[in-house]
This record gives sequence, C-alpha cells and structure tokens, in this order.
Amino acid sequence: MPKNLLTLDQLSLDEVNDLLSKAQYYRDGGFVPNLQGKIACNLFFESSTRTQYSFQVAEERLGMRVISFDPEVSSLNKQETFYDTVKAFDSFGVDALVIRHKQNEYYKELEGKIDAAILNGGDGTGNHPTQSLLDLLTIKQEFGRFEGLKVAIIGDVTHSRVAHTNYDIMRKLGMEVVVSGPDFYMDKGYVTENFEKAITTSDVVMLLRIQFERDATLGDMTKEQYHERYGLNAHNVSKLKDNAIIMHPAPVNRGYEISDEVMECDKSRIFKQMQNGVYVRMAALARSLDID
Ligand code: NCD
Repeated sequence: MPKNLLTLDQLSLDEVNDLLSKAQYYRDGGFVPNLQGKIACNLFFESSTRTQYSFQVAEERLGMRVISFDPEVSSLNKQETFYDTVKAFDSFGVDALVIRHKQNEYYKELEGKIDAAILNGGDGTGNHPTQSLLDLLTIKQEFGRFEGLKVAIIGDVTHSRVAHTNYDIMRKLGMEVVVSGPDFYMDKGYVTENFEKAITTSDVVMLLRIQFERDATLGDMTKEQYHERYGLNAHNVSKLKDNAIIMHPAPVNRGYEISDEVMECDKSRIFKQMQNGVYVRMAALARSLDID
C-alpha cells in the first residue's frame, strides 16, 4: 500500500530518523532503488522553485517518469475543482502525487479517496514536511545530533509553514526553539526572544522571507529598517556563535532578511539545504512507494 506523507506529526520519531538516515545514505553514494515504470505527478497549485524541481530531480534519480502539472493551462480554468483535478490524475493510475496548495490541510478531502501516495509539498501556512526533513538533515550533518541545540527562527513566522513544521518537530527532537521578529509576525504560544539574544545564543539561525503574497506587511517599517532590526548582514553576522550556522528555506529576499554578503558566507548552509532536499525527497518517495 502506498503511504502518504502529509505532516511530520503523523510519523514517529523513529520514522523521521529513518528518513534522515536513508537520505544521508543516498547522499553518501548508497544503493538507489530503481523505480522505473512508476509515474510521479507534481501538482503545484502555488508557485515553487525548490520544492517542485527538487522533487522532480529526486523522481528522476529514482528512475521514475514525471508529469508536471501546470494549473495555468489546466481545466481549473473551466471551473473544475481541486478535488476533481487530483482525482483525474489518480484515475490515470499515477503512483505518486506531490501536491502544494494554498489551502491549509487541503489533503483532508483527499484522504481515503486516492489510491496514489500523496506527498505534501506544502499546505498554506500549515505543513511542509520535506522542507523540515531537509532542514533536520542539514543540522544533523553539522552537529551530529539534535538534543540540546538551540534554533532561532526569525522573520514572518505566522505565515510560514516551514516555521510551524520546524517548531514542532525540532522541539520533539530535543532542541530548544525560539522565534524572533516583529510582534505581528509571532504566533501566540510560541517562545519568543529578542533578535540580539536570538542571534548571539543560537546554534542555528534560520531566517524567513516576509510572505507578502499572504498579505504580510512591514507595518510602519521601511525595507531598510526591517533589515536593520531583523536582518543578518556583514556587521551582525560576526556576533553569531563560532560554530553557528545560518539557514533559510528560500526563496530569499535579499536586502530584507539577509544581505548579499551573508547569503554565501562561511556560516551559510542555504545552498547545502537545497542539495539535501533532493536526497530527502528521494527517501520520502521510496518510503511512500514502499521500496527500500
Ligand atoms: C518555502 C515555502 O514554500 O513554504 N519555500 C520552500 O519550500 N523552500 C518558504 C517560502 O516560500 O518562503
């Protein structure tokens, strides 16, 4: 039976660690199963560069055939529903459906109705399981553990499915997680910390983009003021702990949360995260299709 990957909450910590080990094994040149004959369909109803195309690279590395759905030229333009669109690809007999949609928990209406494995490529402001897995893999490679590490997630937390997924799973894995940024981006119930303390005391400083497309605003700040107060730049990056790393799910908005010099500085793992995304998605696809 195909297994969905909708949220990390649905996995045990052992399953999370198994996915990370499998991804690392692929990265280290371990045996890659051949899924020739299997078909993946990537249905991205929201914009995506990294998640969509690294899933595609992962599918191709596994030998799968890939269909990339383009909502702009689909029957969504003829008032077809999301459900009927997904059901069409399932009826064609594809094996895996990777779906991103702006509706939180869009998958609820699909559960039990679809034979293909569904892998969540992001639902609204809710979950982004494969992004969290690649973040965790990047941290594990750096520190060799999770327990006892401190992570600061900084920026537009309230609109970020990356922040929400990471906040929960990282705490479950024994990390201390704080969020930081303007009050109006902070979620109720989350542990907040002022920016200066967050960047100077954390092992992982994870920056987030402001999600203007979800109606986020800068409040009364200019771009420059935001950058000055909540962004990492050549000046304040020197205050990070010696072995701290900088992460960002990207896309980045240079000049807001991060300056040009910091993007590819020694501490930045932003492009390594993207590399890890391919291996994590290979592991997730192999799990979902029950192949080891
Ligand atoms: C993130 C997303 O789409 O949630 N990007 C990603 O998947 N790498 C973050 C974002 O869009 O800011």
